[in-house]
Amino acid sequence: MQATAKAHTNIALIKYWGKRNESLILPTNNSLSLTLDGFYTTTTVTFSDGLQSDEFYLNDERITGIPYARVTKFLDLIRNYAGQQLYANVRSTNEVPTAAGFASSASGFAALAAAATRALQLDVSEQELSRLTRQGSGSACRSIYGGFVEWEQGSKDDGSDSYAVQIVPEDHWDVRVAAVVLTATEKDVSSREGMKRTVDTSVFYDGWVNSIPHDLEQMKQGIMAKDFEKVGHIAEANCLKMHATTLGAKPPFTYWHDSTMAVMQTVQDMRAKGIPVFFTIDAGPNVKVLYLPQHEDIVKKTLRESRGVTDVILSRTGKGISYK
Ligand code: PMV
Repeated sequence: MQATAKAHTNIALIKYWGKRNESLILPTNNSLSLTLDGFYTTTTVTFSDGLQSDEFYLNDERITGIPYARVTKFLDLIRNYAGQQLYANVRSTNEVPTAAGFASSASGFAALAAAATRALQLDVSEQELSRLTRQGSGSACRSIYGGFVEWEQGSKDDGSDSYAVQIVPEDHWDVRVAAVVLTATEKDVSSREGMKRTVDTSVFYDGWVNSIPHDLEQMKQGIMAKDFEKVGHIAEANCLKMHATTLGAKPPFTYWHDSTMAVMQTVQDMRAKGIPVFFTIDAGPNVKVLYLPQHEDIVKKTLRESRGVTDVILSRTGKGISYK
């Protein structure tokens, strides 16, 4: 009744930004991501009849409150799926700076779903695992796979056709990502709250949704052809559109700090000097920069010197779920 799984986080190049169903976590648009080798969660789940409730430890610390509630709610889903009632002890180790715009919930829920289903000896396909994982955290359903991954929004009300699929595996293309850390403080507006406010109130929301099919098609062509300029330009523009929706919300908000904009400027300055680099930003102030291996040294050095930068963590393309 015990299993251990490891999952990597992922960075969206076409963002998931908005739900059409809050409780089932069904998105308003397809999204596309790159799984990252450098950031991961390892989770051991042990179901036992000696427990009176679930227990959750993150980096050896006992977790209570909202993060605990999200884990037990997800375990309820797995218990329901498996048709049994045992409580679980969950121990996770996170190699992701939490809640600073790195989707630690992505690797967290992917590892939890994989370990919990394996511990219960459930025979689930990767597609089924992705569908289950989605209900813990949307972006997590993409972390089941390595390389470039698309989350298909699906159209059914029950969510049965909303899951991720791999576009190409991690060895297709050696694209790298520099995670530029600006602040480790918790974000003011969670992705959950930010999405909801945007869907409900942003005057720019329809424009965002309508622009996705074209971005997706072009992005997939760029990935297949390993056209870095094409992929980078689409990713950067898609990120800017997502963040623009937050400015059109009521009340308006932004995830950017002044140092976020300084890094965006640094990236565009590098590009003007002929180094192909592109940024993307999630629901937090930190910036991720896409680059090719031959530019690693200059990219790292230049980003480190940008205003407000506390760390630059480099990552390669990562694998999907693995078990220990
Ligand atoms: O799955 P969540 O609730 O962590 O939302 C993720 C939202 C973004 O990171 C901003 C975009 C994405 O597609 O990962």
